[in-house]
Amino acid sequence: MTFKLPELPYEYTALEPFIDSETMHRHHDKHHKAYVTKLNAALAKHPDLAGKSLHDLLKHIDDLPEKLQAPVRNNGGGHANHSLFWRLLTADAPQAPTGELLERIEARFGSFKIFKEEFTAAAMGVFGSGWVWLVLDQNHELQIMTTANQDSPIMTGNMPVLALDLWEHAYYLKYKNERLDYVQNFWKIINWPLVAELV
Ligand SMILES: [Fe+2]
Repeated sequence: MTFKLPELPYEYTALEPFIDSETMHRHHDKHHKAYVTKLNAALAKHPDLAGKSLHDLLKHIDDLPEKLQAPVRNNGGGHANHSLFWRLLTADAPQAPTGELLERIEARFGSFKIFKEEFTAAAMGVFGSGWVWLVLDQNHELQIMTTANQDSPIMTGNMPVLALDLWEHAYYLKYKNERLDYVQNFWKIINWPLVAELV
């Protein structure tokens, strides 16, 4: 199987002014594309793995040949993380989750406000490049977690349902070093109906 760069589910300008068109072009067309290209190049030497899904490769990364583990972690993680991230953003975002998803967030974190504060604090606490996530853990409980580089929560048995890219390539053109402004604007463009589906 050859992995493919998915098209954005909206125009490059759709998320402006929160994420600008040039950032979207570079982020999707260059960075994400490079992860896909390098993942395919690494897997090309292992035709025995051709039938495996990306989820499978990441979930069982420790079982892969040792030389393949770093390329799959970095580029397979990069491909999986970005593919989900694009879908989690929308120009038509409701400002907050509703229904069962909201109830689950309230039950787990106390309130949506507290969840936002904890997620934002986790995002600000990531040193260097990485991601902040809302995941379903192995007990199907909601948890905030962070990962370094392009590590995927799938590698540790978690299922990501919300993701924020904290690499500078995601925000530096517009926000420079002001990561907090980027994180705060993220709340205005979250595709909560998709998060509800994933949970
Ligand atoms: Fe990224």
